[in-house]
Amino acid sequence: MKYTVVLTAEYPSVARDLLAGEFDVIEHPTEVERSEDDLITLLDEADAAITLLSDPLTRRVLEASPNLRMIANYAVGYNNVDVEAARELGIRVTNTPGVLTEATAELTMTLLLAVLRRVVEGDAEVRSTGRCIWEPLHLLGESAFGKTLGIVGLGRIGSAVAERARAFGMNVIGVRRGEPLDEVLATADILSIHVPLTAETRHLIDRNALQKMKRGAYLVNTARGPIVDENALCDALESGQLRGAGLDVYEHEPGVNPRLLAMRNVVLLPHVGSATEETRGAMARIAATDVARFLRGQPPLHVVV
Ligand code: DGY
Repeated sequence: MKYTVVLTAEYPSVARDLLAGEFDVIEHPTEVERSEDDLITLLDEADAAITLLSDPLTRRVLEASPNLRMIANYAVGYNNVDVEAARELGIRVTNTPGVLTEATAELTMTLLLAVLRRVVEGDAEVRSTGRCIWEPLHLLGESAFGKTLGIVGLGRIGSAVAERARAFGMNVIGVRRGEPLDEVLATADILSIHVPLTAETRHLIDRNALQKMKRGAYLVNTARGPIVDENALCDALESGQLRGAGLDVYEHEPGVNPRLLAMRNVVLLPHVGSATEETRGAMARIAATDVARFLRGQPPLHVVV
């Protein structure tokens, strides 16, 4: 009897290629807003599944999926999975660490530079006017050189951002997950978030933290939206407490706060930190390899629980 592997989205083809033949692979179209009930239906036949970071793998879903023995979450983050429930139910969970470090660090620098140098405003202006205007006081931004970057979370991605920021002539200070933030908040000209979303980090950057930042500082978030209190962030941006923000993630994805959409001093991207051909392919390879190993009775290489 062949095991059944459910792919909850269209992943890079290497995932299917590595699994097809040895296992029955059921591939579903990508759907970023799946309900628990949708997922329960999808996972009905699954012995293992490769899942999206937006798939709500709650206790209810896990308990209602009778054959499910393994989830390979197609992301380094796994806040969409109730790992305690998985542990209790004996469901193996894996993720895709390591291969998205460089891509996410690059995107962090992209957002940082784009917001400081008003890149999106400039692009919009050229397109709408059809002209390139040089004026001494036109579209002045701020230089990254000589600024202090505060990094919250010095894991793989935070450290890779630090390395890149130093190459741009920035001073870098950082705090590890769980350490007090006061000094970094008070010192940073730009604060960049690189911790996972957990119960402890939800709203880590709340109204109080934003008030402790330098007036006119910037925030960059390529980690997870709910780490920042988005309403407090909007207030800080509107009042001038923050001068700008570069965001790849949002508190209520796929929704984006309409207040952010109305602001010119923010650069907004659709959660594309890992979206390079190289990285997404590597993530698919890791996820599928771990599924195959697990179903063959070998230990997967990237175990969460
Ligand atoms: C992750 O892997 O957690 C990223 O957010 C996906 O890009």
